[in-house]
Amino acid sequence: MKHKYLYINTIGCQMNVYDTRRIIAGLQAIGYHHTPDMEQADLIIVNTCSIREKAEQKAFSFLGRLASFKKKKPGLIVGVGGCVAQQEGKAILKRVPFVDIVFGTHAVGRLPARISEMEKHHQQIVDIEFADTIEPIRPSITDMNPPVSGFVTIMRGCDNFCTYCIVPYVRGREISRKPEEILNEIKAYADSGMREITLLGQNVNSYGKKEGLCSFSELLEKVNRIDGISRIRFTTSHPKDLSDELIQCFAALDKLCSHIHLPVQSGSNTILKKMNRRYTRERYLEKIEKLRAACPDIAITSDMIVGFPGETDSDFEDTLDLMKTVAFDGLFAFSYSDRPHAPAVHFTEKVSETDKKARLQKLLDLQETYTRAGNTSLVGKIESVLVEGPGKKQPATDSSVDVDENQWTGRTSTNRIVNFIWKENTLHGTPLTPGEIILIKINRALSHSLWGEPVHPGISSQNIKGEHYAA
Ligand code: 5AD
Ligand code: SF4
Repeated sequence: MKHKYLYINTIGCQMNVYDTRRIIAGLQAIGYHHTPDMEQADLIIVNTCSIREKAEQKAFSFLGRLASFKKKKPGLIVGVGGCVAQQEGKAILKRVPFVDIVFGTHAVGRLPARISEMEKHHQQIVDIEFADTIEPIRPSITDMNPPVSGFVTIMRGCDNFCTYCIVPYVRGREISRKPEEILNEIKAYADSGMREITLLGQNVNSYGKKEGLCSFSELLEKVNRIDGISRIRFTTSHPKDLSDELIQCFAALDKLCSHIHLPVQSGSNTILKKMNRRYTRERYLEKIEKLRAACPDIAITSDMIVGFPGETDSDFEDTLDLMKTVAFDGLFAFSYSDRPHAPAVHFTEKVSETDKKARLQKLLDLQETYTRAGNTSLVGKIESVLVEGPGKKQPATDSSVDVDENQWTGRTSTNRIVNFIWKENTLHGTPLTPGEIILIKINRALSHSLWGEPVHPGISSQNIKGEHYAA
């Protein structure tokens, strides 16, 4: 039988990366081999994101580039999945008539059957039905290369309805997967060599509440007991639902990494209210204090939106002030954009593009000082680093850093990238394997990564938490 090939372009968040791996696994079962070569493909899929306007434009510009492929290879099947597919449905076929299949965020499990149908009948298909369960297709393990670190979706959808956000409309209501299903999936990954697992959900803190399953903290405890897994991360947490029980997990669970991503979105109480975030800046700051009390070296990162409708100079000053109070270790900052369905589309008092741009720049400049300071504070310390693999050959924007073929890369528990040299035959004797945790003395901080050198060559350590030791 002739081999069939699938090329897939993934845009957007980790949830899409996970879904892409499920798509690959599902289509493997009907004979498609995943290829990185678009020319070779019989089926091209774009897994789209619509969280902000720019991401949506990216999907359509990729589709534009496919017109010539389709002309050259008339049998080629073109599929559009993910959030833009869910949002636009059959309107995509009007805008890009050569698209063959549009499948929404809940249609990943049905995709193999849909593609088989398409191969037989060659009729355009739109499948954007919402389902009330999560289909049990697991991502393809062989496709994760190197398999040191991976994601597991524990829930999908969102019930929060922040007024700027499209997610509840394109991902549907919150549904949690059963703990046994999640744990079995993680055990299979651990057996295949994966060492770090990131639990994914739009709002992991409300895991299992609706269905009466165990709490998220209890789920973390269960994952912590899985042999072979040495690090656990999760994303994303909504500040209003961050419980004391979960905060204590950072002190109690040895495998839980010292990092939390806790999107705040704004430092102004007026704007937080208009965003329907259901916490105040004071409540947010209280949670930060509790997190730091439970885990003193925890890294805290966040998301921030500038230019939300009605944001005044004084509201923006409140945001800068909150950043100064918290000193985030990292920040993803976005300029507000109107999204279809989201209530803020109808809010008047839109902030001008010029003001948004200026505020974004001011915010990024301020953050840069904190990101750098956070990195610099680690110089001289010893960190436990999960080895991911050989480093990229063009690592340094800083030209004074030598590039060496023995360069490796890994991450600290606080999620900072660390580059280091490991010379198997001369310096360190033993070979290094991705997935090991080794101790590295940090000797240099760049703006977005660290450099260090392995200490006690040959001594590696599983399950060292993120604590660093003063050298
Ligand atoms: N405009 C700008 N940023 C947005 N985000 C979500 N919706 C919008 C929007 N309409 C940002 C939020 C969220 C992150 C994933 O994307 O900060 O946390
Ligand atoms: Fe969007 Fe708010 Fe839900 Fe996050 S919590 S996905 S920002 S609606």
